[in-house]
Amino acid sequence: MASLSTARFRVLEERTVRTVSASSPPRHNSRNVRTTERLVLRPWRAADAEPFAALNADPEVRRFVGDGRPLTRAESDAELESITAHWDRHGFGLWCAAARAEPDRALGFVGLAIPSFLPAVLPAVEVGWRLARPVWGRGLATEGARAALAEAFGPLALARVIAIVYPANVASLRVAAKLGMRRVSDRVHPLTRRRVRVLAISAEDAASTAPAP
Ligand SMILES: CC(C)(COP(=O)(O)OP(=O)(O)OC[C@H]1O[C@@H](n2cnc3c(N)ncnc32)[C@H](O)[C@@H]1OP(=O)(O)O)[C@@H](O)C(=O)NCCC(=O)NCCS
Repeated sequence: MASLSTARFRVLEERTVRTVSASSPPRHNSRNVRTTERLVLRPWRAADAEPFAALNADPEVRRFVGDGRPLTRAESDAELESITAHWDRHGFGLWCAAARAEPDRALGFVGLAIPSFLPAVLPAVEVGWRLARPVWGRGLATEGARAALAEAFGPLALARVIAIVYPANVASLRVAAKLGMRRVSDRVHPLTRRRVRVLAISAEDAASTAPAP
């Protein structure tokens, strides 16, 4: 049963990937740096593992992520490994987000990922965000996510990007709304059995959506 569904993930994932990267994807290297007004979105470095683990140990940060449980250092490191593996495999992914003024200090991530955890929505690419609590409420997630959508609808030429959010995650729903994303459906998270909301924006809508303040 488990291996069957894993195989299904793979098929769907491959189908998505073929639409975004025809041949071998670029490695997660310095070409994959983007800047916004206040952020640098950059490849992950070994030194980022510690601040990433610190934010993943914060119950408030984890409240609406996965099963809602804070991560141990080992679990956080494993997640970071899967993020960099995603970059290596697909040529796009979740960037390490840092302030332009302090590019060495990881604040969290923003970027794009294939949401393999929710096979019902595949093939799809999701825009994601997770930042350390001290920097919440400054518009940084929205700013970084706009750069991710620009990547998705520019160089990656995707037709649609989704977001998957627990309905109680008001901050994330607000970020999605500011990006011009609209509710598509509700699904059940296969692991947690909790309801998640799927939102989406098409390339066409993104091109015609004036950035909200
Ligand atoms: C979700 C998250 C990335 C948002 O980061 P952020 O930089 O604070 O986001 P922004 O400032 O760009 O936008 C947040 C918006 O939500 C609003 N908001 C935040 N908490 C809110 C609440 N409890 N009720 C109503 N609105 C809320 C903010 O006011 C802001 O909207 P505004 O610009 O209209 O004022 C951050 O809270 C986070 O990392 N959370 C934990 C991880 C997580 O849940 N990730 C997403 C999983 S789907």
